[in-house]
Amino acid sequence: MMINKRLIGTVSESKKYIAGNVAAQWCSLAANIALMTALTGLLASLFHKTADKNSGFFTAAAAGAAVTVRFVCTLLSSRMGYLSSKTVKKVLREKIYEKLLRLGASYNGQVKTSEVVQVAVEGVEQLETYFGSYLPQFFYAMLAPLTLFVCLCFVNVPSAVVLLVCVPLIPVSIAAVQTWAKKLLSKYWGQYTALGDTFLENLQGLTTLKIYQADGFKNEEMNREAEKFRRITMKVLTMQLNSITIMDLIAYGGAALGVIMAATQFRAGNVTLSGCLLLILLSADFFIPMRQLGSFFHVAMNGMAAGDKIFRLLDLPETEEKTGCFPPDCDIVCTGLRFSYDGNSSGGGGFDNGGREILCGINMEFPKGRFVSIVGESGCGKSTVAAVLMGRNRGFGGSVEIGGRALADIRESELMKNITYVSHQSYLFKGTVRENLRMGKPDASDPELWEVLERVNMAGFLRSGGGLDTFLTEKASNLSGGQRQRLALARALLHDSSVYIFDEAASNIDVESENDIMREIHGLAGHKTVILISHRLANVTESDNIYVMDGGSVAESGSHEELLARGGIYAKLWNTQQSLENFGKDGTDI
Ligand SMILES: Nc1ncnc2c1ncn2[C@@H]1O[C@H](COP(=O)(O)OP(=O)(O)OP(=O)(O)O)[C@@H](O)[C@H]1O
Ligand SMILES: [Mg+2]
Repeated sequence: MMINKRLIGTVSESKKYIAGNVAAQWCSLAANIALMTALTGLLASLFHKTADKNSGFFTAAAAGAAVTVRFVCTLLSSRMGYLSSKTVKKVLREKIYEKLLRLGASYNGQVKTSEVVQVAVEGVEQLETYFGSYLPQFFYAMLAPLTLFVCLCFVNVPSAVVLLVCVPLIPVSIAAVQTWAKKLLSKYWGQYTALGDTFLENLQGLTTLKIYQADGFKNEEMNREAEKFRRITMKVLTMQLNSITIMDLIAYGGAALGVIMAATQFRAGNVTLSGCLLLILLSADFFIPMRQLGSFFHVAMNGMAAGDKIFRLLDLPETEEKTGCFPPDCDIVCTGLRFSYDGNSSGGGGFDNGGREILCGINMEFPKGRFVSIVGESGCGKSTVAAVLMGRNRGFGGSVEIGGRALADIRESELMKNITYVSHQSYLFKGTVRENLRMGKPDASDPELWEVLERVNMAGFLRSGGGLDTFLTEKASNLSGGQRQRLALARALLHDSSVYIFDEAASNIDVESENDIMREIHGLAGHKTVILISHRLANVTESDNIYVMDGGSVAESGSHEELLARGGIYAKLWNTQQSLENFGKDGTDI
């Protein structure tokens, strides 16, 4: 059916506007019937030469009143249409937004960003016409022929019956097209989002594409997709045009039938002259609303398809509302932690999905107020552990407990408040340096901001420029990689939380500044829980404990000295890095 109950239920506020819209249109129809009755009465009396001054006056007055009523009703109906579109847009966008907030930091795992944008912008826009024009027209198109039927029954029953019987032919033809159109339209939307996806990705990676001269290839790929999209668009347009032609044929044919009926009934003497004229003038009105509905048909189809997309988004499973607080100043303990990106690792005892296991039973402890480091070669799963702790990697196996409370029971907002995560690609927003820093601490004063900038060696650079008002472009792309990291660090230092995770937070910074920043991180370690992930072992030597990861497991752990004494992976890595760093320092030729 072309009425989506769930959609209307979701925006139930719009019901009253739709009803108002229908009522206004109906009043307009009633005024039209009155006008036509007065007019045909006058014509008939002129023909029979029984007209006098009074009847002329009466008709003119009736006509004036009817025109005024119709004018007011049209205004009202378009106003109602506007109000219902407005409500729909507001309500649906709010719902989508709230849904995303509930999905939280891991929404990316379930839905693509570009799809969200398209559904929220374009999809909702489609529904505007669905609610503003289609739905009111749907009800009006039912009501209008019935009203006319009742009125015309007083004039001539056979003609009225014939006209009424012809009206449903239009929706029948629509239904015939619908089954085919529905498939076509869902394909159309699929192509549309696919093209949007590719376009967005290619645009974001344009520089890279240029560097590898792969833009030509991508160009062709996109041309192919665009061509597919063009074809399907043309198909949709052809379908719409054809269905409009069919509806026109039925509408005009039906009206013509009404005229013929009126004429034959008049000749047979079954209807008066004024009645015959009225039948002729009103027969088209039987079909116009239904015909109008038909032309909103494709809008409705689009709206329904968009509605489905919106509901798909709104129906994405959410982790049930958690109530747990973050127990501050508590130990974090991971026991037998397993994780895989493409399967779910929580499935009880057996772990036999096809997905590659990234973490294979990890035991780690991050005691309150201690400084713990995680090292290991690239791809061994360090960032994955961090993302589990941040609540971003859900569906892990084993247990992660914070102060004895399961991680899964802790509300996401509580996690975010209590764990600060800084990576080498922390997001900086378009806006001033001050605005970006204040995300860490909304009420920070300027001296406070300068102080923290000083600590990360950014103050000098900013002073020589625009100070705290220095404007950052999107992703702070007008800063160097190292400057971005320093700013992200400054923001993290301002954020007063009990746990800090630094994931290669200083990887783009020269050794001197890196040492300064490490001093800051070590400074935190006295009173906060610090988890440091670093490639450079010189940074982790002071840790209370170091976990050395290898291929998703903990290979060894202990303090720097203990690990050196063991002579395992860590010791080997340390020696290699030391000899590299000292290379040339002791007079060796480079
Ligand atoms: N979003 C993801 N989807 C699928 N696989 C992923 C994802 N992120 C990481 N991986 C895989 O998980 C493994 C571990 O990645 P992780 O980012 O944890 O490594 P890492 O130890 O932090 O490495 P690096 O030192 O290079 O940052 C890698 O083999 C990677 O291919
Ligand atoms: Mg990493």
